[in-house]
Amino acid sequence: MEGDANGWQPDPMRHYRSKRDAAHLTVASKYKIVGFISSGTYGRVYKAISRDGTDSVHAIKKFKPDKEGDVVTYTGISQSAIREIALNREISHENVVAMKEVILEEKSIYMVFEYAEHDFLQVIHHHAQTLRTPISMSVLKSLTYQLLNGLLYLHEAHIIHRDLKPANILINSSGTVKIGDLGLARITYQPLQPLFAGDKVVVTIWYRAPELLMGARHYHWAVDTWAVGCVVAELASLRPIFKGEEAKMDGKKNVPFQRDQLIKVFEVVGTPDEKDWPGFTDMPEYQSVKKLDRFENRLLTWCNSKIRTSLGYDLLRQLFTYDPDKRLHCREALIHKWFEEDPKPTRNAFASVQGHHIPPHRRITQEDTQSVVQTQAHPAAPPPMHALSHSVMPTSGASFGSLSGGQQTARPKKRARV
Ligand SMILES: Nc1ncnc2c1ncn2[C@@H]1O[C@H](COP(=O)(O)OP(=O)(O)O)[C@@H](O)[C@H]1O
Ligand SMILES: [Mg+2]
Repeated sequence: MEGDANGWQPDPMRHYRSKRDAAHLTVASKYKIVGFISSGTYGRVYKAISRDGTDSVHAIKKFKPDKEGDVVTYTGISQSAIREIALNREISHENVVAMKEVILEEKSIYMVFEYAEHDFLQVIHHHAQTLRTPISMSVLKSLTYQLLNGLLYLHEAHIIHRDLKPANILINSSGTVKIGDLGLARITYQPLQPLFAGDKVVVTIWYRAPELLMGARHYHWAVDTWAVGCVVAELASLRPIFKGEEAKMDGKKNVPFQRDQLIKVFEVVGTPDEKDWPGFTDMPEYQSVKKLDRFENRLLTWCNSKIRTSLGYDLLRQLFTYDPDKRLHCREALIHKWFEEDPKPTRNAFASVQGHHIPPHRRITQEDTQSVVQTQAHPAAPPPMHALSHSVMPTSGASFGSLSGGQQTARPKKRARV
């Protein structure tokens, strides 16, 4: 092929590309967007129905395109999207949300997931605000068991989730728990991983394991089982067990001492010592911890009113083991005697629930559904819902992570909790 006077060659791939693009099915041609669910740090989530004749329902996560000011640029696929997609492609388990496909279109990435009508946060809110009754023991145990089952699968696949919290744990209409949001998950074949190598901090503060709060240089799967303890406690009491105020990064980007969060943990589980947690007194934040008041362990008292069985207390106690190397593994948790005691966990977590006590379906709104568009007309595709350009995404101060656990519908966004 002849180049032009400047030596530029015509693009040899042009023909291939135009053919490929013509054959490429757009999001709008494959799915009907029926509503907007949520907006997070990485993007927006929509409810959609497949146009393939099955009418199957899906959640479509649209990643934010890169932006320079107000201009949408295309500098490639973000690392977080690559990670989430790569991990999702490898996994398949009943208790982990399944990704159906990925669609690349007009500078945006769309991940299509199986749909889940509920999540743990919504169940907690439904009981706290509408029913004003605790979650029944049967539901509590079923949700806990399935959560542990999904997490065991991830851990055996060497995946650490790192952002387990009620808003990221979904439940479908058959009462099956589906762990979602692998946006912060990491695959690791080594038992330990440096904390400060890449991301500065992991896990929403209320669910953050003590080794992270103490500034550990390494951590492993046990950060997830601590978070499971927090989630189970929250299901049982309908409020976060360790609801600390997050200390913010200073101007020099030093990771701050999370004083309030540690106090919240110590107040319930007691201040640890070298005997509970060998190496505790050598941890980076120990000098600051030393200055705090000492607290006795009062988890049993906390559990007496909330979990109501000594076996339930025993499971929580083991999930809240300070020493990460001694903390209960999902494998051990799943054979805990609490699950053998009646009521036993059920496959359908809502099996024992009266119809009107089942949480209502996820709320969706019509806000912003027009931002999922096809800007290129395609002969096979139905007309785009709205021929608009990309949505203007809200900017967030957080560099990674997901938004507050409470935010799942179109309510005003709270600050990012990472
Ligand atoms: N498969 C799904 N089905 C239904 N709703 C979902 C699904 N996946 C996510 N959502 C909703 O969207 C919210 C944000 O999705 P998530 O994957 O957690 O992304 P983010 O990184 O923004 O937190 C979730 O908290 C949940 O309310
Ligand atoms: Mg999330």
